[in-house]
Amino acid sequence: MRHLLSPLDFSVEEINDLLDLAVDIEHNPDKYKDACKGKKIATLFYEPSTRTRLSFETAMLNLGGNVIGFSDANSSSASKGESVADTIRLISCYADICAMRHPKEGAPLVASLHSTIPVINAGDGGHQHPTQTLADLMTIRSLKGRLDHLTIGLCGDLKFGRTVHSLINALVRYEGIKFVLISPPELRIPGYMKEEVLDANHVEYEEVSSLDEAIGKLDILYMTRVQKERFFNEEDYIRLKDCYILDMTKMNMAKPDMLVLHPLPRVNEIAVEVDNDPRAVYFKQVQYAVYVRMALILTLLNS
Ligand code: NCD
Repeated sequence: MRHLLSPLDFSVEEINDLLDLAVDIEHNPDKYKDACKGKKIATLFYEPSTRTRLSFETAMLNLGGNVIGFSDANSSSASKGESVADTIRLISCYADICAMRHPKEGAPLVASLHSTIPVINAGDGGHQHPTQTLADLMTIRSLKGRLDHLTIGLCGDLKFGRTVHSLINALVRYEGIKFVLISPPELRIPGYMKEEVLDANHVEYEEVSSLDEAIGKLDILYMTRVQKERFFNEEDYIRLKDCYILDMTKMNMAKPDMLVLHPLPRVNEIAVEVDNDPRAVYFKQVQYAVYVRMALILTLLNS
């Protein structure tokens, strides 16, 4: 039995196979409409979510399966003090696979140690969000045609943004990847990401604070929200929340084929005027996320 806790749980070849399966699902949805008949996914969300939870549920329904779960820790026995370890033991009796989001880093890992069904990490604190990464990889591969030889700008909250951490982890395994890390000094990528991931893999990167200066050299711009819920005080959040706003003035300085991705939800960091630019692909990314989660559910249930 396999779990997905980090993007590194799959080899590059396995990710390739998974993305190929997702593309087949995209083009032949009917072929998969009963693939999970009689199966159930449990979505255990201890933290707010719109896209990720509904995307998992849509993925399972598209495969002919069923869905159980909760979307708020207060409506589950966690509010009575039940541990993640106990919760997953009983969920293992109800469902065939589960997706868990939790504010504590490592909670899905703890769950996996006590589970008899595959556990998918749907976001753990400021740590990882591997299924968002699969959606990001599918978006880039489908629209750029490759995952190698790209200059990727990651902009915004690189400190707390778990989607950024997972995406870097996944991309360092491809040839010719360069990162431009765009953030205010307070929201720079954590030291462990630099030492254990970027430096350890000899990946080229630079840390800058100006989006204007960086945008012209990027093939991909990955915008992120400042993660309000992970700040220790409101003053810092208010000071930093609008540090980058991507608008058409900035888009006009970018390459004609640069793609703009965002894991969403967006707050102010992308002006709505950008939505109509063909380079803005963050809503396509939402659709790819469903195909890739369908592929993931199939892969884990068959492993
Ligand atoms: C992201 C998350 O939860 O980390 N959202 C998502 O799942 N697409 C990004 C965010 O909340 O900013």
